[in-house]
Amino acid sequence: MTALVVEGLVGGYGPDDQVVKGVGLTVAPGRLVCVIGPNGAGKSTVLKLLAGLLRPMAGSIRVFGQAVTPASPRAMIAAGCVLVPQERNVFGALTVEENLLMGAYTERGRAKSRIAEAYARFPLLRERRRQAARTLSGGQRQVLAMGQALMAAPRLLMLDEPTAGLSPVAAQELFATIRALADSGMPILMVEQNALDALHVSDEAVVLVDGRNAHGGPARALAADPTIRRLFLGGRAVPDTTKEMSA
Ligand SMILES: Nc1ncnc2c1ncn2[C@@H]1O[C@H](COP(=O)(O)OP(=O)(O)O)[C@@H](O)[C@H]1O
Ligand SMILES: [Mg+2]
Repeated sequence: MTALVVEGLVGGYGPDDQVVKGVGLTVAPGRLVCVIGPNGAGKSTVLKLLAGLLRPMAGSIRVFGQAVTPASPRAMIAAGCVLVPQERNVFGALTVEENLLMGAYTERGRAKSRIAEAYARFPLLRERRRQAARTLSGGQRQVLAMGQALMAAPRLLMLDEPTAGLSPVAAQELFATIRALADSGMPILMVEQNALDALHVSDEAVVLVDGRNAHGGPARALAADPTIRRLFLGGRAVPDTTKEMSA
C-alpha cells in the first residue's frame, strides 16, 4: 500500500495566503522521494502542512490508505508522519541520549527498546550518548535528529533540508545514511536544496516551482534531464566547505 498520497494540497500562512497552490505527491513504502525547487517555491511549507504545523485549505492526504486531516502536530504524529525540521532540531545542552528520550515523549513505556533500536541503527549515537548534542558535528546532529524522530515509531519520515550547511563530504555521508534508512523499509519524503545530489540518492522526485508541481518522476531520469540540470546547475550555490552547522 502506498505510504503517502497527497493530492491538490493548498495552504499558506494566513486565510488568504496561498503559498502552496496545488501540490501532489506519492511515496511508496521504502522509497526515498525528494522535493526540490528554487528558494521560496514552497517546499518547507508543504512539509509544515503535512506535519500539522499549518492547516491545509484544500487537498487530501492519505497515509497507508487512511485519510488524515492535519489538525495538529500531535494528530500527524499519531497518524505516523514525523517531521525533522531544518533548524533547531536537537537540544544542544542535552546529551544525545536525553535528546532521544525527548523523542519518546508520546510513548514513554517504549523508550528503552526504541533507544536500543536507535543505537543499533546509528552506532555513532551510542558511542556519544553521554555527550552534549552541541559537541556533535553538523552531520552527526542530523543523524541525532533522525534518531529522535524515529523514537515516535513513524510510518513516514519527512526531512527538511537535512544537508543544509554541511560540507560536501558530510552531506554525502548523510545522504548515504538516509538512503540506508529508506532501504530498511522507511518511506522518506525529503526536501533538499542540494538538488542534483538529492536526485542521485532518491528514487523519485517532485520539482516545485511557485507552489505547484512543475516536474516529477524517477529521480534518475530527472537528473539526466537538460531542463532540470539547467534549472539547478545554473542556480547552484558554491558549496561552503569551511562552515559546518553552528549551534
Ligand atoms: N512563517 C512564514 N510566514 C509567512 N510567510 C512565510 C513564512 N515562511 C515562509 N513564508 C513564505 O512562503 C513562501 C515559501 O516559503 P518556503 O516554503 O519556506 O520555501 P522553500 O522551502 O521552498 O524555500 C516564501 O515566499 C516565504 O516568504
Ligand atoms: Mg525551505
